[in-house]
Amino acid sequence: MESSTNFPNLNMAAKPEVEGFFDPASNTISYVVKDPATDACAIIDSVLDMDYAAGRITYDSADRLIDAIQTQGLSLEWIIETHVHADHLSAAPYIQDRLGGKIGVGAGIIEIQDTFGKIFNEGTEFQRDGSQFDALFEDGDTYTIGKLIAFVIATPGHTPACMVHVIGDATFAGDTLFMPDGGSARADFPGGDAGQLYDSIQTVLSLPDEMRLFICHDYGPGGRAIAWETSIGQQRADNIHVGAGKSREEFIKFRTERDAQLAMPKLIIPSLQVNMRAGEIPCDESGAPMLKVPLNGL
Ligand SMILES: [Fe+2]
Repeated sequence: MESSTNFPNLNMAAKPEVEGFFDPASNTISYVVKDPATDACAIIDSVLDMDYAAGRITYDSADRLIDAIQTQGLSLEWIIETHVHADHLSAAPYIQDRLGGKIGVGAGIIEIQDTFGKIFNEGTEFQRDGSQFDALFEDGDTYTIGKLIAFVIATPGHTPACMVHVIGDATFAGDTLFMPDGGSARADFPGGDAGQLYDSIQTVLSLPDEMRLFICHDYGPGGRAIAWETSIGQQRADNIHVGAGKSREEFIKFRTERDAQLAMPKLIIPSLQVNMRAGEIPCDESGAPMLKVPLNGL
């Protein structure tokens, strides 16, 4: 296993306070990550509530995050998207309007915008340069939350723009790894690749064993209670898809067969249109908020 010297900005002595917020509608966990030395914080993977059948969006999940930050008197510096989610909408602009902060995503967003700009037949007004976001991260880039230094690891495979964020002794897995009994994320979306996902996961697993690992989704397999915190050591030992030395070939075969049986996420059509715009809702020619459904496009 690679040593953690691959990560020059690794600092296990920094211990951010991490609070998880579970959204039962999408099984997403959003996080507020606080610098213990200052009032600074970041949000990772916020959720905008949507009743797709009714075409209605609401803000309860986002308001929970906003309330938590305001109640503690924190200053929001970053609103991070670990990737362009296909299963829920981002509330990043709603939160930014109320609390400020910069919206950051992986630089692979440009490839996502190109792919889905075509699928959704977007016009030229849809910029495909990532300019809807305040920051585009490349592998190894750093940013600060108060006095904490965070860095990113590019983890393509689930999507091209996936980034894992390492903040002191806390790592945010995005959609790479789930809890050890949940395994790994699917790799069959446009731009996804099971072999790439395996390689990305190996990089994440080369972080120190005692690193806390916070995952983005949990479905409570086998009826166990919802959970979202594990560690690199636990994942290396017990992850049912990649732990205990599972080979790349085994993983690709398993992942490909499994993905072929998975249904599309219920909110993939609205999620992609909104999330590829950094959470902004698209409008029609008259300026009314409006989504498209491309038939047989995905
Ligand atoms: Fe995802």
